[in-house]
Amino acid sequence: MKTETIAIHAGNHVDEATRAVIQPIIMSTTFERGEDGGFPAGYIYSRSSNPNRHALEHVLAKLEGGVEAASFSSGNAAGMSVFQSLEPGTHIIAPDDMYHGLRNQLKTLFAGILTFDFIDVNDTGVLQQHIKPETGLIWIETPSNPLLKITDIKKVVAIAKAKGIKVLCDNTFATPMCQRPLELGADMVMHSATKYFGGHSDLMGGVLITTEKNDWWTKIRQVQEMGGAIPSPMDCYYLVRSIKTL
Ligand SMILES: Cc1ncc(COP(=O)(O)O)c(C=O)c1O
Repeated sequence: MKTETIAIHAGNHVDEATRAVIQPIIMSTTFERGEDGGFPAGYIYSRSSNPNRHALEHVLAKLEGGVEAASFSSGNAAGMSVFQSLEPGTHIIAPDDMYHGLRNQLKTLFAGILTFDFIDVNDTGVLQQHIKPETGLIWIETPSNPLLKITDIKKVVAIAKAKGIKVLCDNTFATPMCQRPLELGADMVMHSATKYFGGHSDLMGGVLITTEKNDWWTKIRQVQEMGGAIPSPMDCYYLVRSIKTL
């Protein structure tokens, strides 16, 4: 299916009760139990799952060609959930011009928990020199903000895969309309949905999309659910709407 078609249709959900073609904004924080004590629609409590968030995550997973997406209240919250999901002592290699908010997060909040090097990730020699036994993640951002530096995703993935290291690509500036890092071998994609997905400078959001539902992804889902740094149903509704015009 064409990316444009996915953008328009994959976030659609026809409401069964009213047959409304546009999904209503579901503000309820709790959902009614069925007679058997279960939750017939699969929704229990809005911090864990919500129909509007589900629709948003569905369209984003499809757009990036991933198996699942997890959405957050901002790009920085998405990034933080990745850092929180890593084992203490994990070494991260990140670009020397990594988005400053995420770079500051690592330096101020994760110093002493994780270790990191900010380097020119596109320089093969420099990248290889910085890989350590405890390196668990190579973070790339291409094009980068603000210098618009380009990283060769396939080249970084080849080096990382040979050492069993995960690669995450911040795809905020390219959007899946221009670049699909999972198809180039990355393990995870991150976005600030505040930028092109929102498109009108009136909402904040972040997202992670994975190629695989593995232990790392389970941890990220736990951080999302237990931390609750999630977009409001209204923000999810507007993001789904604005993604249609990507
Ligand atoms: C490339 C990139 N990544 C991450 C972020 C952080 O996103 P947010 O501002 O939604 O927290 C931004 C924000 O400008 C960005 O440009």
